Amino acid sequence: MRKPIIAGNWKMNNTVKDTEALLTELQPLVKDAKCDVVVCVPFTDIVRAVELCKGTNIHVGAQNVAWADKGAFTGEISAAMLVEAGAEYVVLGHSERRQYFGETDETVNKRLTQAIRNGLKPILCVGETLAEREGNKTEGVLQVQLAGAFKDVEAKQAADVVIAYEPVWAIGTGKTATSAQAEETIAFIRSEIAKLYDRQTADAIRIQYGGSMNPSNASELMAQPDIDGGLIGGASLKAADFAKVVNF
Ligand code: PGA
Repeated sequence: MRKPIIAGNWKMNNTVKDTEALLTELQPLVKDAKCDVVVCVPFTDIVRAVELCKGTNIHVGAQNVAWADKGAFTGEISAAMLVEAGAEYVVLGHSERRQYFGETDETVNKRLTQAIRNGLKPILCVGETLAEREGNKTEGVLQVQLAGAFKDVEAKQAADVVIAYEPVWAIGTGKTATSAQAEETIAFIRSEIAKLYDRQTADAIRIQYGGSMNPSNASELMAQPDIDGGLIGGASLKAADFAKVVNF
């Protein structure tokens, strides 16, 4: 019922030249994918990535968007700029943004509503830290993050948001949540969406797992009933590895 979606999050990697090499190698490897395939690239790579992916099944996304339409916001990139560059998706609220660049549930909500207003498809990241998991606070943390992010978002729009559940302790550490842990927490997120909205929205929304997902654990994670995809960091930087995840 829900089409799986595998997205690469390149983070601050790949110049335009690197982008050309990686996408050229990737295209033939993922052309028969049964899932939606997305690469979320640095702002400066978007235009070239869109050109290269034209006529292929690879969709291009950005890694953040400003909450304002335009104006005196040095260093920010607007939704109109992303749309014109050809981006379709945008990662929002990644834990690295929250940790290093002061993103809060409030700024994530403002960016989310701005993305939706402009027709960008958000990939909304939520997840707990190791201390929060060990302190049995995971569910409470996720409740606050979800209620904050979806404030003033209508059910119809919420159903098109992709949620990425990324336990912070699993990102870039090689430490993946077990498929049982990931499934349990993602099922919890889905039940929270049902509480915030309704069952129909909860059944429609796609929820990815992210955090050291790679060719060796992708198929087991993807076999879980509530896991609809992955947000892939490190393993998205090598065409062969990313293709193996996409072709789980
Ligand atoms: P990772 O990153 O796959 O390198 O752990 C995932 C992410 O941060 O989106």
